[in-house]
Amino acid sequence: MNPMEKRYGLKSNQDPLSLDHTVKHIIEHASCREFSAQQIPESLRGILYAAAQSAPSKSNLQQYSFLDVTDSRTKKKLCEWFPSLTWAFMAPMFTIALGDLHRNRMISAHHGYQYNAHPEDAFMNAAVDSALATQALIVAAESYGLGTCPISQIRERIEELATWLDLPDGCFPVCGLAIGYPLSTSKRISPRLPAEVVVHKDRYQSPNMERIHEYDARFNAAVGEPKPRYPERFGLPAISTWSENVARQTAVEERDQFRLFLKRRCILS
Ligand SMILES: Cc1cc2nc3c(=O)[nH]c(=O)nc-3n(C[C@H](O)[C@H](O)[C@H](O)COP(=O)(O)O)c2cc1C
Repeated sequence: MNPMEKRYGLKSNQDPLSLDHTVKHIIEHASCREFSAQQIPESLRGILYAAAQSAPSKSNLQQYSFLDVTDSRTKKKLCEWFPSLTWAFMAPMFTIALGDLHRNRMISAHHGYQYNAHPEDAFMNAAVDSALATQALIVAAESYGLGTCPISQIRERIEELATWLDLPDGCFPVCGLAIGYPLSTSKRISPRLPAEVVVHKDRYQSPNMERIHEYDARFNAAVGEPKPRYPERFGLPAISTWSENVARQTAVEERDQFRLFLKRRCILS
């Protein structure tokens, strides 16, 4: 099937041959959660980080860092805290993408200036820089045949994690990233919302729920019903769908500890 059809779960008139190799590869992205034991050479790790650092950065302030987790004690700790994510921490490569306001605060003090950046703006810039660098790393990794999966679940135990990793004030995890050679050659591409819902022309148009329900149906036809979120709180839906899960997930105030951590160590400090 043509990659555009897989991505949207819709018939497409796009000639797959007209897709440039890099674009085809980006459109065929799928997160990978099962890795073979094949190791990633050190030189390739260097290339992946160079690709990450090649992403654009707000005013070239470069307000992000990666924390490459190689220490077996840290991996063991992560597995203890999040047993269901052992597959991610034990992947051949596990790195943590950080928003990093600490480095530039130090630079500012070093030059004898007072750091007066508006905290919300600085936080947003650092989070965006970190996300762009992570995506560049993902694209580079996938172009070498590696599979990847971002992991935001690590933010659920932020206090323990930040202490264990010696994160200074101003440094916050955006997500972990598991990387390795995929165990399987087949990929499960998860369909995305139709472009007409996401790409607005000239003026913003609120989404038409009919299009969203059509997407729910296409999603389920392509990859099956998603696991319902929070069944213990909301029960089981008659049909589980993407939009039902959006509503369920956003009905829960997730990660309160992370919110307080950000306020205390990144936004207010
Ligand atoms: C910031 C971010 C955090 C994520 N955190 C997790 C996670 O904690 N666990 C997980 O299994 N997948 C995680 N994912 C992967 C998403 O579930 C996945 O990208 C999404 O379902 C779409 O599927 P696809 O990447 O295969 O297209 C995360 C993705 C992003 C961008």
